[in-house]
Amino acid sequence: MDSTSLHTVAAAMVAKPKGILAMDESTGTIAKRFSDIGVENTEENRRRYREMLVTASGLGQRISGAIMFEETLFQETEAGVPFVECLRKEGIIPGIKVDMGLEKQPNGEELTKGLDDLKERLARYKAAGARFAKWRAVIRIGEGLPTEKNIAESARRLAAYAKACQDAGIVPIVEPEVLMDGDHTLARCEEVTRDTLKAVFRELAAAKVDLKGMVLKPNMIVPGKDGPEASAEEIAQRTVAVLKECVPKEVPGIAFLSGGIGDDDVTVYLNEMNKAARDLPWSLTFSFGRGLQRGALESFGKGDLAGGQKALLDRAKESSMAAMGTYRG
Ligand code: 13P
Repeated sequence: MDSTSLHTVAAAMVAKPKGILAMDESTGTIAKRFSDIGVENTEENRRRYREMLVTASGLGQRISGAIMFEETLFQETEAGVPFVECLRKEGIIPGIKVDMGLEKQPNGEELTKGLDDLKERLARYKAAGARFAKWRAVIRIGEGLPTEKNIAESARRLAAYAKACQDAGIVPIVEPEVLMDGDHTLARCEEVTRDTLKAVFRELAAAKVDLKGMVLKPNMIVPGKDGPEASAEEIAQRTVAVLKECVPKEVPGIAFLSGGIGDDDVTVYLNEMNKAARDLPWSLTFSFGRGLQRGALESFGKGDLAGGQKALLDRAKESSMAAMGTYRG
């Protein structure tokens, strides 16, 4: 694929009023989500759950792209329609999570793996219809954490992944997530997010990644889950300020992860950023996993598929309004 196509896909992924649906939970992560709703984690249940999501009629009005787990990319509806086709019918771009999860380091930090056979896998995913990919690095705040070394290596791997994607004609979503776990302050999250984003863009430049052909998926700058609370205005203001400081204007868009923030809060924060922000060089939208699926999962657990689709569509609509700065709660 030439760079024009990469640019077109990246721009479409973050074009308002839409955002990205992250439905790429690994088999281990979906096990946790299913256990909360009393559903057994079998391949068929995962298929049925994801069929409910990708066949929600009208989803394409609010969702530009859907990130899938490898298993999902190759699955079909009960009636034999490939999920990729269901998405295309809605005008939703199919995407794929390509990292192979995290490896724990002796000091408690984590590094993302999956670079070894990435080139071969990307070719396979592209042939199956994926037009963009995702790789998530995690940065943990704690006693003496994060280390510079972990930030540097996470950034280096993100850049190597992004370059491999572009070489394969696939748009990379670059996701460095500073985790909310802990009792740290908003200021500490701000500092670590700034250091992380600076390292990531240094490595992306060194790897010659085409910034117009990628999407950034960062955390919002929030206090730790057990830390002192902060107002929505402050969270929005600090997040936008750090992004302005670190993210080059060539990047077409920034699609936030929800990271365990509650549905209402994450929507209000995104709305606040888009309401207050003028003259931003990039689009600010969403790429929520939990932030879009909580209600859908709950209904699925009760066997209410229509209710699950409605819950997903409702959350997609609220998130979309937040991306426009018109969410009223
Ligand atoms: P959350 O919105 O649940 O954080 O998920 C987004 C995601 O894709 C994490 O990698």
